[in-house]
Amino acid sequence: MLELKEVCFTIQKDGEPVHLVNHASFAAPRGHFMAIVGPSGCGKTTLLKTIAGLNPESEGSLWWEGRNLSEEGDLEPWEIGYVPQFSIAYDELTVDEAIEAATRLRVKCRNTGELDQRIDRVLEETGLAPIADRHIRVLSGGQKRRLGLAMELVSDPKLLLCDEVTSGLDPRSEREIVHLLHDLSRNDGRTVILVTHSLAHLELYDSILVSHEGSVAFHGPPSQLTHYFSVDDSEEVYPTLAKQSGTNWQESWEKHREAYYQKLTRTRELHIEAGIIKLPASEEPRGEEEEEAKKTDKKKKNETSPPRLPGIFSQFGTLLARRWKIFFRDRTQVLLQVAILLCFPVLVTFFAERGKEPIKRLSDIPEENIVLELQSRVEVREDQIRVGSAVSGMIMFEVILLALMGSNNAAREVAGERKIMEKEKFGGVRPVSYLLSKLAFLTCLILAQSLWMAMFVEFFWQFSGSFASHVSFLILVNASITAICLAISSVMKTPEQSSLLSIYLVGFQLPLSGAVLALPELFETITQPFVSAYWAWSGSIEALGGNIHTAVDVITETELSPGNVCFFALCAQTMVGIIVAWMGMVRHQWDN
Ligand SMILES: Nc1ncnc2c1ncn2[C@@H]1O[C@H](COP(=O)(O)OP(=O)(O)O)[C@@H](O)[C@H]1O
Ligand SMILES: [Mg+2]
Repeated sequence: MLELKEVCFTIQKDGEPVHLVNHASFAAPRGHFMAIVGPSGCGKTTLLKTIAGLNPESEGSLWWEGRNLSEEGDLEPWEIGYVPQFSIAYDELTVDEAIEAATRLRVKCRNTGELDQRIDRVLEETGLAPIADRHIRVLSGGQKRRLGLAMELVSDPKLLLCDEVTSGLDPRSEREIVHLLHDLSRNDGRTVILVTHSLAHLELYDSILVSHEGSVAFHGPPSQLTHYFSVDDSEEVYPTLAKQSGTNWQESWEKHREAYYQKLTRTRELHIEAGIIKLPASEEPRGEEEEEAKKTDKKKKNETSPPRLPGIFSQFGTLLARRWKIFFRDRTQVLLQVAILLCFPVLVTFFAERGKEPIKRLSDIPEENIVLELQSRVEVREDQIRVGSAVSGMIMFEVILLALMGSNNAAREVAGERKIMEKEKFGGVRPVSYLLSKLAFLTCLILAQSLWMAMFVEFFWQFSGSFASHVSFLILVNASITAICLAISSVMKTPEQSSLLSIYLVGFQLPLSGAVLALPELFETITQPFVSAYWAWSGSIEALGGNIHTAVDVITETELSPGNVCFFALCAQTMVGIIVAWMGMVRHQWDN
């Protein structure tokens, strides 16, 4: 049984507390099908989220099967299913694949036989079996809602909460979904609560809760609804509600509640058991009986052997496999990645010719003729300026292009699927599995991009210095920008904000690196530690060896840093990016 006792969810508005859920009390037994109805904005979703544990209750207590959730912690992920208002599936997957991923993420199956059995059961239960291999992109609204339900049913939850899963559907689909939910409540004692603003098919519910301005205005069987509001038709309930404030409705419901429940023996018993209706002292159950009831409740709790969550690495494997599948199915994304991968190195090699020219060396024995000596010095200087600026520019170009790839890799990675991630975290997916899957996916992109860039450019240019250390700097600059953009994407509210910020981040790399424009010294000291392009550029120049190093030193006012300092700076940036990304993933951002 689910019980709410005087539950409030309160926010502070202009320093004043506002109850978005105002002392809500009701009980719903096992196998109960309940509707929470009310006009838009009356607090239905807020109440549902409070039941789900997404909104922490500020007063009162929530109970499930005799367990005080307010004290003993929320329901386990497999005990509760929550179907939110938004879609929770990737368009690129098929129905079958989405349900399989949901099962693998939420339920620890002993073998593939058990996994298939679960998937088939859910497909049958929700009527999705005939369209199991269809892509989610082409599903109708009703089919998508069924899929949302199916993805929750994989763990066989005993409490199923659904938010507006019928809204926006045609009348037939709406009827089908309400019937489906009704049937689901009749299986294995599952309590199903549906939030809806629609007043159709009321007869199918065991009870209706009418919500108004965060308060409970009525909770009882559908047959009593019109009687309670003194209206002829349920459609008149909302206009009647609007005539009084939520608090007034709540007060009058509390006054009349017992009289209404008096006629309904079972409902009355439940509400007495839950302590929502107070019995006269003479009728109160004796202490012993209460103890006995508590024991049975505890026993019931232990009897259910819930499916255990899969391990961190199992979830990681599922998430990674799904990420690659989505990547390869998104043609635009694949084409863009391939185009970037192939074209960017070509752009760099356009500039390779001038960088290849030899630099004249000063002879160890000075010319005796002072004019010749000066002339020779001038020639060396001119060579240094020409080659130095060509090499410096080319390395910077290479670094900036890799930074751009890094930002393209990660800018939308988390922000673009935040809601799905939040939903999956609620269903038991660990943030660490999620982070690892993103890191593994992005590492593959980073390695492919940086190695290909380095090898292609090397082929046309033939570096004088260490190829290995040049490659490491290219990998590191890509990795650090990717990690920082992953962090941005994990902290920002929308993919648009995250993309914009990531583009700015890359855009400012060039001017702030100091390689092109000399920056005021103080400014440079402050910004340089944060500019990945500077460290990768400086490290790469050093890797090219003495002659070029000196040539670049001649043309730039910015001081070059030793290779190992550059290496550690880039590693530190990457680590910071990963840590911030992780913090962003752990933080709840359900509403965004
Ligand atoms: N966390 C929150 N902080 C501030 N206001 C909120 C929060 N959650 C909901 N609200 C406000 O509470 C009201 C009820 O919202 P909601 O429960 O979504 O309504 P319904 O689902 O009935 O349409 C809305 O005005 C909404 O803006
Ligand atoms: Mg809502």
